[in-house]
Amino acid sequence: MANSSVFRQRRNLFLSHLGSYAAIIPAAELVTHHADCEYPFRQNSDFWYLTGFDEPNAVALFLPHKPNGEKYVLFVLPKDSAAEVWTGFRWGTKGVLDNFDADISHPLNELPNLLPHYLEGAEGIAFRVGKHSHLEPLVLKTWSEHLQKLPRSGFSPLSMIAPCPILHDMRLRKDDFEIERMRIASKISAEAHELVREFARPGMNERDLQAQIEKYFLEKGTRGPAYGSIVASGDNACVLHYTANNATIRSGDLVLIDAGCSLDDYYNGDITRTFPINGKFSGEQKALYEITLIAQKAAIKCVRSGNNAENVHMTALQHLVEGLVDIGLLVGNVDSIIEQEAYSHLYMHRTGHWLGLDVHDVGAYRLGDYHLNLEPGMILTVEPGIYISDRLPVPKGQPQIDERWKGIGIRIEDDVLVTSDSVEVLSKNASKNLIDLEN
Ligand code: GLY
Ligand code: MN
Ligand code: MN
Repeated sequence: MANSSVFRQRRNLFLSHLGSYAAIIPAAELVTHHADCEYPFRQNSDFWYLTGFDEPNAVALFLPHKPNGEKYVLFVLPKDSAAEVWTGFRWGTKGVLDNFDADISHPLNELPNLLPHYLEGAEGIAFRVGKHSHLEPLVLKTWSEHLQKLPRSGFSPLSMIAPCPILHDMRLRKDDFEIERMRIASKISAEAHELVREFARPGMNERDLQAQIEKYFLEKGTRGPAYGSIVASGDNACVLHYTANNATIRSGDLVLIDAGCSLDDYYNGDITRTFPINGKFSGEQKALYEITLIAQKAAIKCVRSGNNAENVHMTALQHLVEGLVDIGLLVGNVDSIIEQEAYSHLYMHRTGHWLGLDVHDVGAYRLGDYHLNLEPGMILTVEPGIYISDRLPVPKGQPQIDERWKGIGIRIEDDVLVTSDSVEVLSKNASKNLIDLEN
């Protein structure tokens, strides 16, 4: 896959969008976990998207101002048997020429000497400042030296742009290859949710469920969880980013599981399901679950070309608030409640986000006042929820909450693809209808 036409096509498109700007796209670096132990390596998604190269510290240059054969340059860690004994195989400079389609490759330590040459002739530099602390001083120094010589050389890159609008616009619109990978990521993630619901019993620890899910992800050959799996029973489900996953699940609890896998090429699933551990919703749990499900299904219906993520959010919100008014947890006119955000102690997050190589994927949602239209190939999550606890104050004019509702947290999250005529729910194999969750 590394030298596949997929990556080449992306590079060619990126080069064409750059005009005469030279782009500098760094790989990720290893991140310290503690002391001298590092987290498993996770490639930078922009770098991966353009190169398919999965080693740390590399730097890719995209040089549209240079002749063919010099447009794509990779600086990589060189072969080094002593280092490879400790940290594993490296492709090295020859390996990346033969396997990753680079026009030219160099060992990383030559970057300071060679960067001035590669930037020569570029109108400007596309580099994201503020994100790459090791590389940034070198980039700025090289640029500054070109500017210093400008009166005599007659040429220097004159401006710096962020490459993200170009790259992230590309990443926002998934091609057929990416869509297929996303189908697989969502399918495996959905299968894990089905398995863990079958497995779950009162008295188990949340971590027992996490272990089942993540075991399945690994058995399927993925990298594992795409993000810290959330397995939250009872009131823990009202903590949006709960990852402690260490409580005993009591009979009568709902269990909220937010988990998805990351494929070997980093495409991610992101699914949430909420179910009763003992196979039977209480009256209050059922009422809230039904409201959430109605809101979620309505929001998914709203996902189509021409609509936007704001429409999807507002649709979910409208249904959530209507339902909460119906059961008396909110009072007043639905539009006023929404306008005054008087629901925000019960629903405090947005209804979804782009999904792809990053779980909260890149791409704009709006340009100024204009909300970006959904288009075929975009993938987003739809994930409304209701969270009832004492953590936030009840807004003025809204009723205090009866104890019987407290400690119920519900979220239902699917991964959906905008298609030319409607929507494809990539995570559809994860059950969410009441009849499938009760026994
Ligand atoms: N799992 C992170 C999210 O749903 O946004
Ligand atoms: Mn999500
Ligand atoms: Mn999620």
